Amino acid sequence: MIKLGVMCSGRGSDLQSIIDAIADGKLEAQIALVLTDKPNVMALERAERAGIKNLCVDRKLCADQLSFEAKLLNELRAAEVDLVILAGFMRILSPTFVRAYKDRIMNIHPSLLPAFPGAHAHRDVLEYGVKVSGCTVHFVDEGTDSGPIIMQAAVPVLEGDDEESLAARVLEQEHIIYPAAIRLYVEGRLNIKGRKVCIV
Ligand code: GRF
Repeated sequence: MIKLGVMCSGRGSDLQSIIDAIADGKLEAQIALVLTDKPNVMALERAERAGIKNLCVDRKLCADQLSFEAKLLNELRAAEVDLVILAGFMRILSPTFVRAYKDRIMNIHPSLLPAFPGAHAHRDVLEYGVKVSGCTVHFVDEGTDSGPIIMQAAVPVLEGDDEESLAARVLEQEHIIYPAAIRLYVEGRLNIKGRKVCIV
């Protein structure tokens, strides 16, 4: 059984969608560990409630990025994690971390990449005035929101949307496509060829 290590920074609703997909028999994987970079966040509570090992590696208590990531890697390795799932993890990972789990880190981003990368996708979407947005599951490479794309879902941007209403519409799709993309990985159906992912 593939072991997932899910890394979060806050609310953890994407984490919950993965927990639920496993519980419903839609995803054959085990969440071996939930890691956060902040204490007292809802993601930790969700993991606890589901009986999943969870811990916080508090970035603020680490001397620098290197020691923070070394601690994360130690925990992931100790839990024998096969695939790292970034689910609302709001920190950029260094090339060293990315290389340690090369082609084995997934992220979900709340826009149709390569449009609107970065930490304020919904704000940027609304400011730009595009009529369609959505979400993207991708493998993580050494850039920001730039890795090979696995799956995307689109939603309309409606007249009168604010960041909250748009985020809620996108989130519904996130909760569908993230477990589905992980399932493809688990089934061995994702082949990375350059910057493309072929689903076989
Ligand atoms: C999601 O919108 C995800 O796309 C982004 O951060 C948000 C996380 O939400 N990377 P949650 O913490 O999973 O509820």
